[in-house]
Amino acid sequence: MQPLANGQRMVGTDNPDLIRQTITQSMNASNHSQALLQAHGLGISYVSVPPLPPEQVLTQLDLTIQAGEKVAMIGRSGSGKTTFLHACAGLLPITEGSLQIAGQALHQLSEQQRTRFRRQHVGLVFQQFNLVPTLNVLENLQFILALNRLPVNTKRPMQLLRQLHIEDKAQRFPGELSGGEQQRVAVARALVHQPALVLADEPTGNLDIDNARLVAELLVRSCDEAGSTLLLVTHSSELPQGLDRVLSMQRGRLLPVTP
Ligand SMILES: Nc1ncnc2c1ncn2[C@@H]1O[C@H](COP(=O)(O)OP(=O)(O)O)[C@@H](O)[C@H]1O
Ligand SMILES: [Mg+2]
Repeated sequence: MQPLANGQRMVGTDNPDLIRQTITQSMNASNHSQALLQAHGLGISYVSVPPLPPEQVLTQLDLTIQAGEKVAMIGRSGSGKTTFLHACAGLLPITEGSLQIAGQALHQLSEQQRTRFRRQHVGLVFQQFNLVPTLNVLENLQFILALNRLPVNTKRPMQLLRQLHIEDKAQRFPGELSGGEQQRVAVARALVHQPALVLADEPTGNLDIDNARLVAELLVRSCDEAGSTLLLVTHSSELPQGLDRVLSMQRGRLLPVTP
């Protein structure tokens, strides 16, 4: 069994007032009609070293997210949030149930096909950034444009870096940046090709309060502008404005958080 990723931490008690406030503030705009993500009876297990049985992390999970919806996911550490995001990104094989995203049946795709799906349709902000260390900040963003055969210009990358207040770091390498700066580059990289689905795994975990708000709000706003669907794992105390729904992961199942 592989160890837990760095950066895992305990999630504090969920604050119902904050959740309620965030949902009611955003129960306005959305008129979504087409499912972007549909999970039915989804189960994910991690293989353990025998004689230990496989560890079942997600169980009979059902979820539909409409195109353009902006959804937050909260839940205690170890409840399966990262596992679900990785399944949606095509990083994990699906052995139980079905998962359909952007018209692709992930449960029927090979690993190679899932990689192609991820590159084209998903913008992923990992808990541990995963920037390319040998490329500078601007090149990290342009690399994603090139992979998707989009025009490799500087306009959109620099616009995102400016919005995240790190345009002066464009020529720097990831190793020369602070954790919070790297995190903002990772956010810009996930948005640069305007993917159908943006998956962000605690993208504000390394940031001070001001930058945490900036990053979370930019994620919501950018997805709004691009028509992208957002699934954001975060803490209940850091929910940005403009969300459509908040879901709670509890022992491998997703439950709605009602206002
Ligand atoms: N690569 C892995 N191999 C085996 N078990 C894992 C692996 N990744 C996560 N787990 C286990 O799956 C459960 C859910 O983990 P995770 O999805 O990272 O939760 P969360 O993101 O909600 O903190 C935990 O019990 C964790 O130990
Ligand atoms: Mg996690």
